[in-house]
Amino acid sequence: MEVALAADPDVVRWTMYPAGLDEAGARARIADLRERVERRQAGRYVVTGPDGAAAGTAGIVAGRRGAPEVFYALLPAARGRGLATAAATLLTRWATGAGHELLLLMTLLGNVASEAVAHRAGYVRATVEEVVDPDGAVVRLRRWEHRRIVPVP
Ligand SMILES: CC(C)(COP(=O)(O)OP(=O)(O)OC[C@H]1O[C@@H](n2cnc3c(N)ncnc32)[C@H](O)[C@@H]1OP(=O)(O)O)[C@@H](O)C(=O)NCCC(=O)NCCS
Repeated sequence: MEVALAADPDVVRWTMYPAGLDEAGARARIADLRERVERRQAGRYVVTGPDGAAAGTAGIVAGRRGAPEVFYALLPAARGRGLATAAATLLTRWATGAGHELLLLMTLLGNVASEAVAHRAGYVRATVEEVVDPDGAVVRLRRWEHRRIVPVP
């Protein structure tokens, strides 16, 4: 799955997956993530379609922005069926239910497909920030926010 995702130009363009990831690199990424999962700083899942086949990945991570961040990526053949929206919505509901009042989703500027997912999952457009990517390039990220609605007594 990691290797297949990193072989897709859209995934490389819009996420931090490195191009041409090989199996050893994929295993290193998974080991790094597993460590964060064990420290309860991240959760990551395989997204499956109705037939049970692996369609992509989605997860939630305790980012450095002070609120959990939701992320997702689908294999090309699995797109256009609402699977990313379903995964983002599920993770958001779970985290909100676990007590997080604010959830975040970060998209690289111009990632229209991901913006649509954020919107469908109930996030609203917030600020734009600049960060340095693993290659040292400055990239612009759109911050999306999801706030728990607290009923007024
Ligand atoms: C971003 C990405 C996950 C979006 O995938 P996607 O398939 O467009 O998103 P969804 O799974 O929400 O599906 C939405 C599409 O399914 C359709 N759909 C069908 N049933 C649906 C349902 N029940 N709910 C929502 N959408 C549904 C929508 O109309 C939409 O189709 P459209 O694009 O033709 O309008 C995908 O483009 C991707 O993996 N990109 C590369 C990695 C990436 O950018 N990750 C995000 C980094 S921030």
